[in-house]
Amino acid sequence: DKAGFKHFMAKEIAEQPAVLGNALAHYVKDGQINLPAGVAFAGLDRLTLVACGTAFYACSVAKYWFESLAGLPVEIDVASEFRYREPPMPARSWAIFVSQSGETADTLAALRYCQGKVEKTVAVVNVPTSSIAREADLALPILAGIEVGVASTKAFTCQLLVLALLALKAGHDRGHLDDAQLAAHLAALARLPGLIHQALAVAPEIEKLAEHLAEAQDVLFLGRGPMYPLALEGALKLKEISYIHAEGYASGELKHGPIALIDRTVPVVVMAPHDRLFDKTVSNMQEVLARHGQVLLVSDARGAAEAGAGTWACLRLPEVAEPFAPILYAIPAQLLAYYTAVAKGTDVDQPRNLAKSVTVE
Ligand code: F6R
Repeated sequence: DKAGFKHFMAKEIAEQPAVLGNALAHYVKDGQINLPAGVAFAGLDRLTLVACGTAFYACSVAKYWFESLAGLPVEIDVASEFRYREPPMPARSWAIFVSQSGETADTLAALRYCQGKVEKTVAVVNVPTSSIAREADLALPILAGIEVGVASTKAFTCQLLVLALLALKAGHDRGHLDDAQLAAHLAALARLPGLIHQALAVAPEIEKLAEHLAEAQDVLFLGRGPMYPLALEGALKLKEISYIHAEGYASGELKHGPIALIDRTVPVVVMAPHDRLFDKTVSNMQEVLARHGQVLLVSDARGAAEAGAGTWACLRLPEVAEPFAPILYAIPAQLLAYYTAVAKGTDVDQPRNLAKSVTVE
């Protein structure tokens, strides 16, 4: 049931404030992170995060969080590489497998590879009865509710939320965050459903921009820090449902090759909240503007005021606590892909050649 929406994807994008609110209510009780006993990170040397597609980009964001909030070294890989690479696994480590369906063949094989080699395997899944959930030592549901659209939206932000809570727990367990710092981060997460609700109000503006994006042959997405994996996710979402070629890059990589693509016909989406790396990202953006690239700056009021001049368009999101910006900025990335696909008339919920659950490698 699409509940009055034109597509499941639109419904699932709109559901995010509610499902994230539910997940927060489940995982945070009386100001404390509520995870099963045994989720303790103090003695670990390393974490390994493995997934495919959008779930891999959630892991890629989480790597920044575990490193910065908990000082915990993290290795990430896509499951199809990880499983055949057969990497050595430190004994004092955990491996976390992130999957919406819980049935992705490569992710399941990667989980089986780690069994007996690491201290604990953990599944972060949407389907609690799935193979990955059953075979892992511990399964943590992301509580996104059934996701029908092939393009993952609410599962991505719920994966990010659960991974953020694990990173905060790790930070506290390892003495990187004191009680007050933990409380401040939890308060920041608690504000996200409201902020996402506000971000959804940008939809009509994005719908107008999408008419123009639909004409593009290629689109680049740029970001720095934890916004870099979000740039990758924005590009994946756009290509899978609108069939427009899109690439995500770390902003600093632009001058190492992709800048050669820039001309008047290439829209460049710059994901840049006004954070500690903002000036660096803006200087990369200026390089695009100098070559007549059409920049869509996705930022906040401060960022727009400082750097909006000369851009093709500028989206203003509410301000958000720095580490968790990728959760909020996922919303415009999803909406850009959605409205561009609608403008092109593609089959949004069932894009060509794609399946919701990839049970063969
Ligand atoms: C993209 C998308 C895919 C999945 C990937 C992993 O929108 O949906 O990239 O994220 O196939 O699927 P799960 O999470 O079910 O393991």
